[in-house]
Amino acid sequence: MAAPPPFPLRDQLGRTLRDLRISVTDRCNLRCTYCMPREVFGADYPFLPRPELLTFEEITRLAGLFARLGVVKLRLTGGEPLLRQDLPVLVGQLAHIPGIRDIAMTTNGLLLPRYAADLKAAGLRRVTVSLDSLDPDVFGQMNGLGVSPQRVLEGIEAALSAGLGVKVNTVVQRGVNDAGLPELWQAVRGLAQVRFIEFMDVGNHNGWALRQVLPSAQLRGQLQQAEPQLPWQALTPAHSSDVARTYQAGSYQAGFISSVSEPFCGDCSRARLSAVGSVYTCLFATGGHDLRGPLRSGASDDQLTDHITTLWQDRRDRYSEERAAVKHPSNSVTKIEMSHIGG
Ligand code: GTP
Ligand code: 5AD
Ligand code: SF4
Ligand code: SF4
Repeated sequence: MAAPPPFPLRDQLGRTLRDLRISVTDRCNLRCTYCMPREVFGADYPFLPRPELLTFEEITRLAGLFARLGVVKLRLTGGEPLLRQDLPVLVGQLAHIPGIRDIAMTTNGLLLPRYAADLKAAGLRRVTVSLDSLDPDVFGQMNGLGVSPQRVLEGIEAALSAGLGVKVNTVVQRGVNDAGLPELWQAVRGLAQVRFIEFMDVGNHNGWALRQVLPSAQLRGQLQQAEPQLPWQALTPAHSSDVARTYQAGSYQAGFISSVSEPFCGDCSRARLSAVGSVYTCLFATGGHDLRGPLRSGASDDQLTDHITTLWQDRRDRYSEERAAVKHPSNSVTKIEMSHIGG
C-alpha cells in the first residue's frame, strides 16, 4: 500500500493547499474588455470542443483527491460556469465529498434567475457576481456586448431569494469606471458586500497598463470622501489566505483585492483546475500540469494523489510579489487566459 500523503501538504514557501478553483468551461456570454475582448474572442475563436472538457465524474474524482490533501473550499469558475449544461448536477456531486466545507461560484449573474434555486438545492452556498458599473453605457462598454447592469441586479436578487450568500466583484479601471464607484457601492452594499479588484495583467490580450490601475488605498479614500460621516475600520481576515482586505463602514462592508499595489502571495493556498484538467499553481502561470492524461489512461487514486502532491511540493509561484518588485512590469511572457482558469 502507498504511504499516506504528507499532511498538511506544503509548497516550497511553506504554503498549504486549501482552496481549489475549478473552471468548468472556457465560454462566456459576455466579452469583458479586461478578460475576453471581443476583437480576440470573436465568432471564429476556437473554444474547447466538448470531449476535451473533464466530465462531472472526472471533476468530482479529482476534487475528492484534492480534499484528501487538505482542500476544504471549492469555487466553480469559467468562463461563465452557468453555460456548462446541468451545472447543479456537478454541485450535487461535489457537495458529497468528505472534508469540503464550502462550495461557491464566480458568475456574471445573467443566468442566475434560471438556476439559483437549483444550485442552492444542490448544495451551493455562495455566489460572487461580477458587476463593474451601474451606468448602462459604462457597463455595456466594459462587458463588450452592451448588456445592461439591470440584468445583473436581477441575477443578484434571484440568488438572494434562493438563499445563497452573495458578494459582488467589481474590477476597477482608472478612467473607465472609477467615477461611478461610490454610487455603485451605495446602491449595492445593502444587498451584498462589494469587493473592488485592481485591474490585473492576467492573460495576454487585455492591454494592461499600470496607469489604468487605481490603487485600492486611493479608491478607499474616494469612497470615504463621498460620505465623510461613515466610520471605517479594517476587519481581521477570517483566514490568512483571503484575497480581500475587508472594511466595516458603518453597517456596511467593502472589500479590496489589491493584487497590484499590495500583493498577497505570502499565504496563497489556491490551486486551479482548468476545464481540460490541467492544474495551475498560480493565476499568472505560463503552464499547467496535465491530470486528464493520466486520469483517462487509467491512473489509480494513489498515482494521481502522488502527482498532485509533487506538483504542490514543487510550487514556488509568487507572481504578484515579483511583479511589484520590478519597476516596469512587462507583458512579455505568454500567460494562461483568465477564461481558462476563471480568476
Ligand atoms: P471568498 O471565498 O468569498 O473570499 O472569495 P474569493 O476571494 O476566493 O473568490 P473570488 O473569485 O471572488 O476572488 C475574487 C477575485 O480575486 C478573483 O476573481 C481574482 O480576480 C482575484 N483573485 C482570486 N484569487 C487570486 C489569487 O490567488 N491571486 C490573484 N492575484 N488574484 C486572485
Ligand atoms: N483584472 C482583475 N479582475 C479580473 N477579472 C477578470 N479579469 C480581470 C482582470 N484583468 C475578474 C472578473 C470576475 C473574476 C472572474 O475575475 O471581474 O469577477
Ligand atoms: Fe465572462 Fe467573467 Fe470574463 Fe467577463 S470577466 S468575460 S463575465 S468570464
Ligand atoms: Fe497566488 Fe499567484 Fe495570485 Fe500570488 S499571484 S496570490 S501566488 S495566484
